[in-house]
Amino acid sequence: MKKLKEKVRIAVLISGGGTNLQALIDAEKRGDIPSGEIVLVVSNKKEAYGLVRAEKAGIATALIKGEEDIDRELIELLESHDIHMVVMAGFLRLVGKAFVDRFPNRTINIHPSLIPAFSGEGCFGIRVHEAALNYGVKVTGATVHYVNEIADGGAILFQKAVAIEDEDTPEILQKRVMEQAEWVLLPMATEYVANRILNGERE
Ligand code: GRF
Repeated sequence: MKKLKEKVRIAVLISGGGTNLQALIDAEKRGDIPSGEIVLVVSNKKEAYGLVRAEKAGIATALIKGEEDIDRELIELLESHDIHMVVMAGFLRLVGKAFVDRFPNRTINIHPSLIPAFSGEGCFGIRVHEAALNYGVKVTGATVHYVNEIADGGAILFQKAVAIEDEDTPEILQKRVMEQAEWVLLPMATEYVANRILNGERE
C-alpha cells in the first residue's frame, strides 16, 4: 500500500448509544489519535443516539439497511468516502468475507469481555455482563480485536482486565467495564492500527 501523506480516514460503525464513539471523538479532540481522523459514522439503526453524537461533533453520518447484502452496501458506502480504516463500536451486525478481504487488518471491534470468555454469536451488550456474573468469574474486562467473519473471532490486539465486585449488577459492571476498559482501549487501539496503516506496514 502506498504511503499515505495525510491522516488515515476512519469510519466508525454503531448501532446504539455510541459511548465508545464518544470516547473516540473525545480522544481525537485531545490529540490522542494523531494518525487518524474520524470522517464518517455509519449506523444500521436510525434511532441510534451515536448519530446525534456524531452530528454534534460535526462528523458526517450515513444510514445503511444492513440486511441481506451488508458487505456490498458497506463497501460501496465506505469507498465513496475514501475510508482507509473501520472501527466497530457497538455495531450489531456480522460482516462477511467480502468486507473482511476489502479491509484486511483495517477493521477493529471492541467487545466487553476478555475474549474468548463470554463472546461469540448472540453474546453482546448487557448479556455479556449477565453471563459473567452468572458464571461467577472474579475478573472480566474488554478486548479490541481485528474483525473477521466470525463473531468476535479475529486476532486479539489489546485487552484490559476489570475486577468484579460483590454487589455488582449487570448494569453496574457494564458501566465499570466501559469506563475502566472500553473507553481506554478503543482510542489507543485505533491510534495503534491507524499508525501502522499510515506507515504502510503490512500486518
Ligand atoms: C459496548 O459494550 C461495546 O463493548 C459493545 O456494545 C456496546 C456499545 O455501547 N460492542 P456504546 O454504543 O458504545 O455505548
